[in-house]
Amino acid sequence: MHSQSSFGAFALGLVLACSSVRADAPCDIYAAGGTPCYAAHSTVRALYDSYTDALYQVIRGSDGVTNDIKPLSNGVADSSTQESFCSGSTCLISIIYDQSGRGNHLTQAPPGGAAQGPDSGGKDYLASAIGAPVFVSGSKAYGVFISPYTGYRNNNINGSITGDAAEGMYAVFDGTHYNDRCCFDYGNAETNSQDTGNGHMEAIYFGNGGYKGSGNGPWVQADLENGLFSGGDSNVNDDNKSLQTRFVTAILKGTAGQWALRGGDATSGSLSTMYSGARPSGGYDPMHKEGAIILGIGGDNSDRAQGTFYEGVMTTGYPSDDTENKVQANIVAAKYGTAGLVSPNFKFAKGSTISLRVTTACCTTRYIAHTGSTVNTQIVSSSSSADLREQASWVVHTGLGNSDCYSFESKDTPGSYIRHYNYQLSLDANDNSKQFSEDATFCPQTGINGNDHFSIRSWSYPTRYWRHYNAILYIASNGGPHDFDATYSFNDDVSYAITTGLA
Ligand SMILES: *[C@@H]1O[C@H](CO)[C@@H](O)[C@H](O)[C@H]1NC(C)=O
Repeated sequence: MHSQSSFGAFALGLVLACSSVRADAPCDIYAAGGTPCYAAHSTVRALYDSYTDALYQVIRGSDGVTNDIKPLSNGVADSSTQESFCSGSTCLISIIYDQSGRGNHLTQAPPGGAAQGPDSGGKDYLASAIGAPVFVSGSKAYGVFISPYTGYRNNNINGSITGDAAEGMYAVFDGTHYNDRCCFDYGNAETNSQDTGNGHMEAIYFGNGGYKGSGNGPWVQADLENGLFSGGDSNVNDDNKSLQTRFVTAILKGTAGQWALRGGDATSGSLSTMYSGARPSGGYDPMHKEGAIILGIGGDNSDRAQGTFYEGVMTTGYPSDDTENKVQANIVAAKYGTAGLVSPNFKFAKGSTISLRVTTACCTTRYIAHTGSTVNTQIVSSSSSADLREQASWVVHTGLGNSDCYSFESKDTPGSYIRHYNYQLSLDANDNSKQFSEDATFCPQTGINGNDHFSIRSWSYPTRYWRHYNAILYIASNGGPHDFDATYSFNDDVSYAITTGLA
């Protein structure tokens, strides 16, 4: 009898341990703290223990067909469904579903006061479905990789927080993907996509723009409209530490006369409080929150920022630090980990020299080459001149902007690399800037037109692939505003046969 009951207790303990990550998912924790979620967004995992419905929707480039991606039994997105659905084509994330039951989904952001998006109807771009692979609880999933001009929004929130009413929010970001442009935000914004004045937003900002804290950034700040704030009226806050870990938890909350910023490493440890105190002066107290929700853009659709979003929620009421600490513990327990950007079959040997032959039927004697700074295709063979063969040969290096991917140095112009500029590929000298490094980083993957070929996508714009178009190389999306984004012949035009270097 004695041994039987202790075996029973042991078995029960195992069951609890196995389900513990989901037993107190973030929105269950916020609800228990009296500050329930009114929106919960993640392409990576369920944010309620009981949530089993779709996390997000992808749309396929070849035929415009959509598919919902649901969680597996461990709560993590079923990425294998996405991978098989998108095989042989490209996919974008078209809807990030709200898990709260209120229907507060995020979709393609409309044009706003600061910017018309480049996509049809002045909308911002949708994110690639494969730009931000990640492991969560041991399963592979995909975050939302926001390139400049990409954004999601909902201007008609059910149960929105307005005026000076209390709310909280958190998000998990990639601490290595950011810039200093306005504004990589998640949170509360204007309902008409215009700048309607100070205090009309309350959104988490992540990047190295705006006011500075200590270190070189990136920082978590608050976008309160017409100002990024990391503290009170002072524009120096040494408590406002740079958050440079691969995964970052960022928290913002506000109530009448009071707000706070918190943050930390999403994979270990506790949260730091960067600021907790009075509202800044100048129209921010009381607040005039309007209640839309934005992701990746500013309230007026300022859309030049970049960053990666994995999960985030908006809550009713001002969450306690204790509640947020429990949410952080749940995020840590979910075990975010990196997943390589390049699968093993498509890795290149560093230091090797390669050439890339076109596979479109018209042009299979052409290789990617350059004439001065213009990257083009030219007819090359083993009997071509040494000069021409060198123009079509590229030395493979670790990616200047991300070590998972690659940069390609010209064989005949050492120190110059292929980079994208204005969506065209160009051969330019490395100036060692963050911008150049990112523009010169590219990730090979299975050929869109077949497994024996390679397609090469831009790290910083993962919807865009090296494409030859009228014998000039671009980074092109599968449909889009430019001639070179044409869907006709896209799969072949972005797929190359890789050979050892012609020179
Ligand atoms: C709005 O939220 C309530 C829950 O607060 C929910 O019952 C209702 O279905 C939601 N409305 C829509 C249109 O989703």
